[in-house]
Amino acid sequence: MNPLPIADAAPASASALPADGSSIDVAAERERTTGSTLASHFNAAGAALPSRGVVATVVEHLRLEEAKGGYEAAAERRGHLDAVYASAAGLVGADPSEIALFDSASTGLRVLLDALRPARGQRIVASSSTYVSHALHLMSLAREEGIDLVIAPYDARRRVDVAALEALLSDGVPSIVTVAHVPTSSGLVEPAAQIGEVVRRYGGTYILDATQSVGHLAVDVAEIGCDVMVTTGRKFLRAPRGTGFAYVRGALLERLLPAAPDVRGARWTTSSEWELDASARRYETWEGAIAARLGLGAALGEAAARGIPVTQAWLVDAGRRLREALASLDGVTVADPPGTRSAIVTFVIEGVASADAVVELARRGVRVVSVPATHGQWDLGDRGVPSVVRASPHVYNDDTDLSALVDGVAAIATGITR
Ligand SMILES: Cc1ncc(COP(=O)(O)O)c(C=O)c1O
Repeated sequence: MNPLPIADAAPASASALPADGSSIDVAAERERTTGSTLASHFNAAGAALPSRGVVATVVEHLRLEEAKGGYEAAAERRGHLDAVYASAAGLVGADPSEIALFDSASTGLRVLLDALRPARGQRIVASSSTYVSHALHLMSLAREEGIDLVIAPYDARRRVDVAALEALLSDGVPSIVTVAHVPTSSGLVEPAAQIGEVVRRYGGTYILDATQSVGHLAVDVAEIGCDVMVTTGRKFLRAPRGTGFAYVRGALLERLLPAAPDVRGARWTTSSEWELDASARRYETWEGAIAARLGLGAALGEAAARGIPVTQAWLVDAGRRLREALASLDGVTVADPPGTRSAIVTFVIEGVASADAVVELARRGVRVVSVPATHGQWDLGDRGVPSVVRASPHVYNDDTDLSALVDGVAAIATGITR
């Protein structure tokens, strides 16, 4: 019996080659990515391999701090730091004044949800794809503050059912709708723009968690129509750990007041008054890892230079090839919803715990992770899947990597673990 739906293969037209003929130069990407030559790293959805240029940017700034002191080094690189906002804004179609830098997506989600001041009687509608940390925050709000938390209705492919969402919102209850564009637990891609249209029609506030999509798929905040978007640096953007950024629609800045203003985002003007920064920097804290932020800037620059449409086409095709190869193996079931078109590939091996498969693959020089249901009870838990193995390629993965992964999984599935 097969408990999981097999993903449809994408049509052959989902080519890695975009219309202008450009594509990814995998050899060049490997050349500038030290880690890609040391193992077959399929964990972009956890933390991707950074390029040598990104690492050099971080190290160079740490050397500057060593020589001059942290404040002095930051002052010297102020122009580069300001450019990080412009690069982040450029990548997602925002204005630099709408960008705030955080140390993670979760911090951004927490700070901005708190700024929305959800109050008793208000409804939060969350997609079943919601990430564990965000879900825990939402459940705490429901339990402790009396917020009405509703899991968004979903269709047979586990995507938010937009028509059912519309029916839900049409009762006029003020709602915050929060959606993970791509979850941690499968390659699902939510219909982000269709959701945006419905939320806007009923006057709700739309939070998009684009942690797994920025750097992977095209994300344009205006096209999607979200009010708030958060993402992290270390995943498909290939930035250093401890980085992330958020977008807040300019028109909302005056309504979204930080629950805990910080000296970075506010000016204490009299003994009882303060002024918030006019931009989204009002949500930031003074302290931050400046070297990592400059690394984020370098990674954003590299992502833009490579081109998002080209990267998306290549990654989606890599996911399709991997899914097809895994689905052809005896004892292996692809766990992504049917029709999945992304570079997050999840699967189970009959009779083998995901965590054990990860250890065995690591022994073979292949890096993947296990995602347990405790990281997504509204998805994996709801599907009755205790855990999945997750493989997530990036542009530095070549065909040798792909074979290493598929051969390793085949060997595990047939009980060969030499
Ligand atoms: C969909 C999704 N949202 C949010 C997060 C949290 O990101 P961070 O660890 O940067 O807070 C993750 C992390 O895996 C994720 O997959």
